Amino acid sequence: MTESLQAILAKAEAELPTLRTRAEFEAAKARYVGPNGELTALMKRMGAMPKEERPAFGKLVNETKARLQAQLDAAHQGLQAAELAAQLGPAVDPTLPAPDGGPGTWHPLTLVREEMCRILHRVGFAVADGPEVETEFYCFDALNTPADHPARDSQDTFYFPDTARFANVAKRNAGEKYLLRTHTSSVQIRTMLQGPPPIRIVSPGRVYRRDTTDATHSANFHQLECLYVDRGVTVRDLKALLDYIFASLLGPETKTRFRPHYFGYTEPSFEVDLSARHLPKVNKEWIEIGGCGLVDPSVFSTVGYDPSIWSGYAFGMGLERLAMLLYGIDDIRTFYQNDLRFLRQFA
Ligand code: DAH
Repeated sequence: MTESLQAILAKAEAELPTLRTRAEFEAAKARYVGPNGELTALMKRMGAMPKEERPAFGKLVNETKARLQAQLDAAHQGLQAAELAAQLGPAVDPTLPAPDGGPGTWHPLTLVREEMCRILHRVGFAVADGPEVETEFYCFDALNTPADHPARDSQDTFYFPDTARFANVAKRNAGEKYLLRTHTSSVQIRTMLQGPPPIRIVSPGRVYRRDTTDATHSANFHQLECLYVDRGVTVRDLKALLDYIFASLLGPETKTRFRPHYFGYTEPSFEVDLSARHLPKVNKEWIEIGGCGLVDPSVFSTVGYDPSIWSGYAFGMGLERLAMLLYGIDDIRTFYQNDLRFLRQFA
């Protein structure tokens, strides 16, 4: 009997490491320790043994069983490791050079942003930056936008909860809220508070509104803001600059026109339309592109500039709208989807 147990162990030891599949393993396991297996068969024969031999034999059977189980576990682990290795494929050589993803391309919005900054740089405008998290002061109050103005409604503007803290954006007034800027005009205020005129800045950047996304709207989009402050600035200077930048960007055939409008921070204020029928997919004469005007004296007072000395113009426009015109793109969502088939067209 004892020899039979040893024989089973020896056989298992030789056989189990050679198993290659789970089916083979399960079959072998059943043959050794299953209800109809060899070990069970030996245990059944215990009944026919003299009583006094049974305890010693029982102990031996248990030891054999434990050792068999250890062998089965090892074989099972070996199989699992082999299966995983097969799934992983050949070993990776980390010393090989990385697979080449090819050169990247500029995003169309980046292309338009950079081109506009270049065009404005040529006539003396420097790039200014401002935070996307703003306070009500910079985004609205200092721009002469009253507390009950519809743009300030929480339906249109993303406000942060009162508990939100931003170490890099200081509040000026107790009780004012943090928000995601709804326009880049806040950079006008930040720039003017930094020092005296003359000022000539362009500030491109991301802005946020609670718009429902569709082909022409997105809850975050990009604007480009310009501010010019000097002595004796007129609407004629403003119109000349807009004519120059749009002709430079979109071609000399481009025309601009002003329509009277209202903005709290400019007086007079205008909306700017473009005519650029030579561009692809342009099928109407005038396209609205932004807002502008002469800086309102009350804004100068807020930032500590004497309005009897200083005058200026400001304008803001949507970068997506410009890029869509320039490249004949008809859905704003394509800018944010990171579809390489779209992006590679601007390489
Ligand atoms: N901030 C305005 C908007 O988001 C655009 C604008 C209008 C900017 C008039 C200006 C301006 O600088 O003077 O619709």
